Amino acid sequence: MQAALPIILSYIQAESLIKARQQGQTSVEISPDLGLSTVTVLLTPEGTIFPNGQRLDWNSIEKISKSEVNCFIVQDNGVRFVQVFSEYTNRVCSLMPTQGAPSMLIAGFVMHRIKDIDPMQDTLRKIAAISPIKGRVLDTATGLGYTAIEAAKTADEVVTIELDPAVQEIARLNPWSQALFNNPKIHQIMGDACEIVQTFDDDSFSRIIHDPPTFSLAGELYSGAFYRQLFRVLKRGGRLYHYIGDPNSKASGGVTKGALKRLQEAGFTRVARRPEAYGVVAYK
Ligand SMILES: C[S@@+](CC[C@H](N)C(=O)[O-])C[C@H]1O[C@@H](n2cnc3c(N)ncnc32)[C@H](O)[C@@H]1O
Repeated sequence: MQAALPIILSYIQAESLIKARQQGQTSVEISPDLGLSTVTVLLTPEGTIFPNGQRLDWNSIEKISKSEVNCFIVQDNGVRFVQVFSEYTNRVCSLMPTQGAPSMLIAGFVMHRIKDIDPMQDTLRKIAAISPIKGRVLDTATGLGYTAIEAAKTADEVVTIELDPAVQEIARLNPWSQALFNNPKIHQIMGDACEIVQTFDDDSFSRIIHDPPTFSLAGELYSGAFYRQLFRVLKRGGRLYHYIGDPNSKASGGVTKGALKRLQEAGFTRVARRPEAYGVVAYK
């Protein structure tokens, strides 16, 4: 059985706590899981008391309220960042709050779109680009698991691959990623997608979601050799969604052109831009 998640807070909940105190309230409803549910928290002169007995002093709450890029774990009546140093990439990974589902920061790069959109809306656009999602789905880059979790709502099975154990550790602490660990339809594999995909049978997936890091960080995931593997494991009639980035930016525009050409050379019969999903779709 999975252990209960610790309380995870961001500046959004901290600001509600501070406001309630200023208004003289003795209790307030806030979310202990970044907006998924709410609990009633008692307010005392020293700080707050959560229903599970955890206490948090006002200094810690002030500290949380001052950081808009970090989430915090409440544990042993104190707080620490939801942050892990990746031994694998030598980069710091941390959970980043938004008004909706959190994103992840890896060495300063945000994992999802957050400007005028939130990570969950971003995810829904990626999924919509190859809907209906059915059969067996390959998700080449797990991250926080949002695409895998969303695909699993209608797929028979989702196989999702993540290279970095530190990313998985952050996902384990993220309230919005829990289905990754408790939905039996989702099968997680740790390793390099370039190697793992080679081990899959031909024609074994109906849909592929390919949501890699930016080209400059993971060029091999945009290579002709990798696209040929994706083509091989996709069933005839299957569809691939490939995130690339803002089609209006100079950098992503260039990467999109190259990717479309290499996807065609890899054998995909039709490839099309999907600007609303910041990516392209390829059909087999
Ligand atoms: C943009 S994120 C994926 C976001 C994810 N689709 C979601 O919904 O949260 C890209 C992920 O790919 C992982 N990654 C990088 N190189 C990889 C590789 N060669 N194989 C598998 N995963 C890789 C990164 O660690 C990162 O977590």
